[in-house]
Amino acid sequence: MEHQLVLQLATLIGALLLCFAPRELDARPRALFVFGDSYADTGNHNPYVPVLNRPFKLPYGSTWPGEGSGRYSDGKIFTDFFAEYLGFPSAPMTYRMAKGKKQYEEGMHGINFAYGGSGMFSTFGPLIPRVNSQIQQFRDLIEKSFLSKELIAESMILFVVCGNDYTAYGDNHPNDEGILDFVPSVASEIDGTLKAFYELGANKIALTKMLPYGCYPKITSKVNYISCNASENARTILHNKLISDHAAAFQELHPNVEVIMLDFQQAFELSFQGHYNQDDLLEENSDFQRRVNLRPCCEGIGEATCGEKDLFGRKQYKVCEFAKDFFFWDNVHPSQAGWEALSKVLFGPLPY
Ligand SMILES: *[C@@H]1O[C@H](CO)[C@@H](O)[C@H](O)[C@H]1NC(C)=O
Repeated sequence: MEHQLVLQLATLIGALLLCFAPRELDARPRALFVFGDSYADTGNHNPYVPVLNRPFKLPYGSTWPGEGSGRYSDGKIFTDFFAEYLGFPSAPMTYRMAKGKKQYEEGMHGINFAYGGSGMFSTFGPLIPRVNSQIQQFRDLIEKSFLSKELIAESMILFVVCGNDYTAYGDNHPNDEGILDFVPSVASEIDGTLKAFYELGANKIALTKMLPYGCYPKITSKVNYISCNASENARTILHNKLISDHAAAFQELHPNVEVIMLDFQQAFELSFQGHYNQDDLLEENSDFQRRVNLRPCCEGIGEATCGEKDLFGRKQYKVCEFAKDFFFWDNVHPSQAGWEALSKVLFGPLPY
């Protein structure tokens, strides 16, 4: 069964990618400024607004820190791992916390402006600032001299946009009609964002490609999590190609700016192939063996999603026993183990 799944994944994904070397990250930047969606948000939403506060409540945060932290996962997310790889002791402070401070302090390690649910366009309502509003928050802090030009010049930007625009599009278009024609407008907004970061004085920008959308549990639940949906993955492939093209053109125009593409798609494929060898067999006891599973650890019952309760406070979801054996935490978000696996593929062994 597992072998069959691996084969199916491998077929969908295509040829084995042989030469993927983890990237060496240079010397630690002075600070990290983060923009994007729930794959990067470490707690920017208002914890007291019911439609937004799911990640502030268990079972979110159950692996780490043991209570809801505002992260859409059982524990750490990409921002945490990326910050650790860059040499920071922790992720940058959230904008929610930073905006109350009188002045910037190095101990903040930068600021995280990302909001769960965000996209390049409006997505799920007015409570969710789109990426341009996040950049406006950043710009305001520069104009107020809360952040200095020198600091920005010596810092890294992490920009993570992984599909809310497409989910929102699907909400308004039955059967996702025309979605592939929509992809170029999302990609060109992302290109515009690179330019905005450049104009604000950024010298290093890490931009993520999307994870394969057709592998999200919300899609694969329809086939009992046995395989990814190739037609849903088509938008990912196009999106990733277009943003790579934009980034390459941007890079050529601005050779002094370092644009680092973080290929979540390829890293996902490789972490699923894991220790997949030429006999099409998984190595015994490989960490990844049990993770070759598209089922999420926290699974909503019926139409419910992870963390939902009914009017009587009864849980409308079930949580697996060992989250570390699951790549996905809920129907769209990787678990801490999933993020760790992706980070290892991208950057090599953890630095601690
Ligand atoms: C894959 O996705 C397409 C487009 O959303 C859908 O029409 C199709 O039924 C899905 N296939 C499976 C096997 O779920």
